[in-house]
Amino acid sequence: MGRAFVYVILGGGVGAGYAALEFVKKGVSHGELCIISDEPVAPYERPALSKGFLLPEAPARLPSFHTCVGANEERLTPKWYKENGIELVLGTGVKSADVKRKTLLTTTGETISYKILIVATGARALKLEEFGVSGSDAQNVCYLRNIADANRLVNAVQSSPGGNAVVIGGGYIGMECAASLVINKINVTMVFPEAHCMARLFTPKIASYYEEYYKSRGVNFVKGTVLSSFDFDSDGKVTAVNLRDGRKISVDMVVVGIGIRPNTGLFEGQLTLEKGGIKVNGKLQSSNSSVYAIGDVAAFPVKAFGETRRLEHVDSARQSARYVVAAIMEPGKTEEFDYLPFFYSRVFTLSWQFYGDNIGEVVYFGDFSGSTFGAYWVNKGHLVGAFLEGGTKEEYEAVAKATRFRPAIEDLTELERQGLTFAVTV
Ligand code: FDA
Ligand code: NAD
Repeated sequence: MGRAFVYVILGGGVGAGYAALEFVKKGVSHGELCIISDEPVAPYERPALSKGFLLPEAPARLPSFHTCVGANEERLTPKWYKENGIELVLGTGVKSADVKRKTLLTTTGETISYKILIVATGARALKLEEFGVSGSDAQNVCYLRNIADANRLVNAVQSSPGGNAVVIGGGYIGMECAASLVINKINVTMVFPEAHCMARLFTPKIASYYEEYYKSRGVNFVKGTVLSSFDFDSDGKVTAVNLRDGRKISVDMVVVGIGIRPNTGLFEGQLTLEKGGIKVNGKLQSSNSSVYAIGDVAAFPVKAFGETRRLEHVDSARQSARYVVAAIMEPGKTEEFDYLPFFYSRVFTLSWQFYGDNIGEVVYFGDFSGSTFGAYWVNKGHLVGAFLEGGTKEEYEAVAKATRFRPAIEDLTELERQGLTFAVTV
């Protein structure tokens, strides 16, 4: 049994949704495009899962956050795919791929062949077991990557009114879930191995602002240690977490956000991998010219940094998706992908954006005891990165533009004196 398509997108997440819209904008014909996803629903805006989805009042639920509402574009419901002649194969995993034959074998036993494949398989959450701790299957231990995880997390919250949660990990999932749990009136302790939260991006000074804010909302921080084991009751529910520093914390529920691994398994030994992802060139094409990769799974050349990076953020998934469709359908007209990394987060009433790279010397600006502040990163005499909390739309656009422009910076003291004005006037 088998079907053949011109274009197949493997994976049905953010990248797949934005690529589908772009294919339609570029005039793909009915019956040419197929999307295969092991999730049971059409592509949706994954960031909603740690934000609107977890609200106690009027939570976001599908179909409200199908792609591409996150970029103020059309909301692509299953009906939209049907009307545009796109085959949406849902609830179906791909269990093997053969890039020489250009075929994919699904969990239902079907062979789907392609002329061009876009790999958009994203990533999976790392499990505690990979760090030698068992208990991930307990009903009150939650991860957060997909709708099924999010439903499980909501159930755990609803089963623990006024209860205690431990959040393991001080990265994006940890910070956003901790905030959502507080909003649900759960008492939160965050546990992570580093000296401060968001260690991959924040400086100690920036982290301290958010930690103080979280403390003011009742969050406890236990830093510099990791989980060593769980205690369970007779039903297999976790009742306490034991930390390596000897502490024991009683819990009603646990949320784990300890990083991800890109889903490259189907292509190991077939495509070149780098930085944990599928290595692609400036056209997002892999070592096999019929296979492209986008989103979390792609390791692509970031022109501004002059090196290959893998980014795990929604804007990168959206932009790489839009780009790849143009590169495939209008190859002669398309320059190489030139992407400025952009990350953001929203928690409580706080909201920050970051552009570029966080290397070099840091120059702070604004009022760290107020609501608008930020930082520039200056490397080898040029502005390479900018962070801004509490900015206006115009201010965010200004720091994005300034970072893209990479102006020469001769005097760090002068940059500090000008602060946000510098970006606005570049
Ligand atoms: P994505 O993970 O979206 O999609 C991959 C799809 O492939 C999934 O549907 C998966 O099931 C499917 N798949 C994988 N293997 C398969 C197989 N073998 N067969 C079939 N299907 C397969 N970023 C940001 O910038 N700001 C934010 O606020 C947030 N917030 C946020 C919250 C939460 C809870 C998460 C988990 C992530 C974020 N992110 C984020 C990150 C952002 O969501 C992420 O970078 C994008 O979803 C990546 O898009 P992709 O399309 O690459 O993967
Ligand atoms: P992360 O990489 O942001 O953070 C992982 C954290 O895990 C680290 O900060 C560290 O504190 C902790 N950690 C690592 N090893 C540990 C161990 N053995 N024990 C305890 N803690 C340990 O990853 P994440 O928070 O799990 O997020 C998952 C993915 O979702 C990422 O790709 C992230 O970019 C994405 N995401 C992004 C956003 C956003 O951009 N706003 C929001 C949510 C999720």
